[in-house]
Amino acid sequence: MARRAMVAGNWKMNGKRQAQGVIEQVVAGLADRGEKAAGVDCILCPPSTLLAGAAERAAGSPLTIGGQDAHAEPSGAHTGDISAEMLADAGAQCVILGHSERRADHGETDAYISAKVAAAWRAGLTAILCLGETEAQRDDGDAVETVLAQLDNSLPEGGTGANLAVAYEPIWAIGTGRTPLLHEISEIHSALRDALIARIGSEAGNVRLLYGGSVKPSNAAEIFAADNVDGALVGGASLKAEDFLAIIDAAAATHA
Ligand code: 13P
Repeated sequence: MARRAMVAGNWKMNGKRQAQGVIEQVVAGLADRGEKAAGVDCILCPPSTLLAGAAERAAGSPLTIGGQDAHAEPSGAHTGDISAEMLADAGAQCVILGHSERRADHGETDAYISAKVAAAWRAGLTAILCLGETEAQRDDGDAVETVLAQLDNSLPEGGTGANLAVAYEPIWAIGTGRTPLLHEISEIHSALRDALIARIGSEAGNVRLLYGGSVKPSNAAEIFAADNVDGALVGGASLKAEDFLAIIDAAAATHA
């Protein structure tokens, strides 16, 4: 089965209330494109302070809104945290989990991330599970092994094409302007596809594999043409509606 392209934007810790204007511009841009962008699942993940307002603005449009993290528990004494149920209640349909910045800033382990993915599913959210190697791991020839181990340990049982997307984000490519060579991206994505087939069988063919790390309008088309790349998780370039829409256009053209 052909997979729909997916382009998700991760605003990280950026955006005050006026950034809702970017959501409005993306909604308007998608309306202008109509059928031209209809083959792409378009997602923006703003900081949680903006999430409910963003979901209101995106309602009825092809844009969906996601969170950037969720606690593994549905509620309780966890100061500062947000549960998957709360994200869903605010209008999110998906959540980014296991981003390398959370692994680094908050010491998140694969086992903890696995519990969060299960929590996202419990709340009816699609999990965008992030994996990626450090520069040293790539230099040592350990990139494939590292990413596969992360997948193995952070993906609980029960993944489907509807509730899971996997984002390969090499840490050294995030926010640096550097990207792997296309064959390096394909190598990882093909290994991820094979590992998913081993884990979840034919359903693996429906799971979107996203590339993330310095995706921008000028390199999106070539990245989307690489084997087993079904879309992108976009950081900096998703903060500007024009750039984010240009990346969606590239996905729509490649996966038409
Ligand atoms: P950049 O696109 O800014 O490199 O960020 C990628 C990323 O971390 C998305 O989650």
